Amino acid sequence: MIDTDGLTRVFGEITAVDELTLHVKEGEVFGFLGPNGAGKTTTVRMLASLISKSSGSATVAGYEIGDSSAELKLRRQIGLLPENVGLYEGMSAYRNLEYYGRLNRLDSTTLRKNIERLLRMMDLWEKRDLPVGTFSKGMKQKVAIARALVHDPVLLFLDEPTANLDPEAAKMVRDFILELKRDQRTIFLNTHHLDEAERICDRVGILKTRLLTVGTLEELKAQLWGTRTVVRLEHASESIVTALRARLGARKIEVSGNRLLIEVADPERENPEIAEAVLASGGRLRELTQLSPSLEEVYLRLIREEGPAA
Ligand SMILES: Nc1ncnc2c1ncn2[C@@H]1O[C@H](COP(=O)(O)OP(=O)(O)OP(=O)(O)O)[C@@H](O)[C@H]1O
Ligand SMILES: [Mg+2]
Repeated sequence: MIDTDGLTRVFGEITAVDELTLHVKEGEVFGFLGPNGAGKTTTVRMLASLISKSSGSATVAGYEIGDSSAELKLRRQIGLLPENVGLYEGMSAYRNLEYYGRLNRLDSTTLRKNIERLLRMMDLWEKRDLPVGTFSKGMKQKVAIARALVHDPVLLFLDEPTANLDPEAAKMVRDFILELKRDQRTIFLNTHHLDEAERICDRVGILKTRLLTVGTLEELKAQLWGTRTVVRLEHASESIVTALRARLGARKIEVSGNRLLIEVADPERENPEIAEAVLASGGRLRELTQLSPSLEEVYLRLIREEGPAA
């Protein structure tokens, strides 16, 4: 659905996005993470054909970006919730959606149906005739999300969709994203909410001008640390620990009270070996569990290793 190759955008002296090579599959929810100024919005704006690229290439929903003859067709395939929602404040919620749907050449019956469905879903149908300028920021955000969807796009770019929302509305938007996914749509989501990414994304990429990593959450977690197994013993005596170290060879073992933290590469294979080694060395096993880092740990470690933004 999205394929980029060395995609780069320079603003004067600043390289905002540097050689981004990325593949987003059809039907997946892809989370794009990274600190302020990392280039997430710039990436989305290039992919949505709102700004030009400096170099590299990308195809989006089958169209090459930067090819002016394909630009209109590309726009009709995609929906965008921009960072600054940019609605017509003097126009009603209904008229905002209608205007945008018409721009995308939607027939009026489908358009009316879509507007009603979306505004009802966003709990704004009763307020449809009020000027958007009188809405709260969360309500505006909801209208902008509806606008991004009014022409039934196959690919949706959401630039921090829950940034202005109260917890209940944020949950509604997340559930809605999952519903769109069940409907086979592809979603590219910029977010600072790591828990949101953990809950709804199939894969995530971490950007800091350059793409630092990309993968499923499990891949990211494993790639950074390997995973660790926690073994709680009835009593972790010196002699048991020494015997374990001898049996488990090169694996790193940290001892904390009666708990041992053992680095493992392949838990499925190694955990039974660990259990056997504990018993063989005379230890009594109280508990054996797998510990994997949170996305937040992965994120912070990667971002810090990378140093300050260029
Ligand atoms: N129109 C522009 N002119 C000049 N510089 C720009 C422009 N747009 C973005 N930049 C610069 O490009 C870099 C990336 O900005 P961008 O908005 O893409 O980051 P972001 O990852 O979306 O950050 P945030 O999380 O704060 O939204 C920043 O250094 C920003 O100042
Ligand atoms: Mg941004």
